[in-house]
Amino acid sequence: MMSAVGLIVGSACSGLVLDIKSRSPAKTPFGTPSSPVLEVVFNGCRILCIFRHGESSKIPPHMVNYRANLWALREHGVRQCLGLSAVGTLDPGFPPGELAIPEQIIDYTWGREHTFCDGNAELQHVEFTNPFDESLRAQVTEAAQISDFSIRGGVYGVTQGPRLETASEINRLEQDGCTMVGMTGMPEAGLAREIGMRYAICAMAVNHAAGRGGEHSDIHAQFKRYVPQTVGRVSRVLGHLVPDLCEGS
Ligand code: HPA
Repeated sequence: MMSAVGLIVGSACSGLVLDIKSRSPAKTPFGTPSSPVLEVVFNGCRILCIFRHGESSKIPPHMVNYRANLWALREHGVRQCLGLSAVGTLDPGFPPGELAIPEQIIDYTWGREHTFCDGNAELQHVEFTNPFDESLRAQVTEAAQISDFSIRGGVYGVTQGPRLETASEINRLEQDGCTMVGMTGMPEAGLAREIGMRYAICAMAVNHAAGRGGEHSDIHAQFKRYVPQTVGRVSRVLGHLVPDLCEGS
């Protein structure tokens, strides 16, 4: 089977226009993925997508079947995959409306099925010093530059959700070195590494993290305001990135 490019579509992406050509319901040894594997044509190139929170966006971050999602994509030949994730930003240099391609991650989640090592499969301690695929990160960065905007790195702190954080939790995350906060980067990144899939996250800043918005402290009002801007940028990045990735696969 030819290797394919995968996209895991996050909750802030309902405005992303996807030209869906086919849908394959999938079953895996780990259960049913959040959505069928959708074959989408982007700028003339075929990619395979899963909606992380389901097609009706009802699956909360702690109930996403991350294992089934990654497994199904791999069964369909995906060897490189970009996850789209909404985040709140802690970094004044990374304002809402912009994108980032984090280079590090800190996992604050708990109780999620976070590994394929279930006592039956071979036990592996995967290397995770650098959790994201560097060449995929570079390709995303280049696609942003071609689209005329810059994209920064950063450290993604993954919280359990679905509630947002307290101001003090955000202060703690900042002390730990986090520059953005989201709810889905883990276990997705770790599972991708376990199955040898090249994986990176394109983080979409849709709000200031809790307690950081100054006069714009209403986080849901910020979502409304910034989601369309980030989706516009993601769509421009994908327009350049997807042909680039498909060419190499
Ligand atoms: N915190 C956690 N997850 C998020 C946020 C946030 O502020 N914004 C979007 N996803």
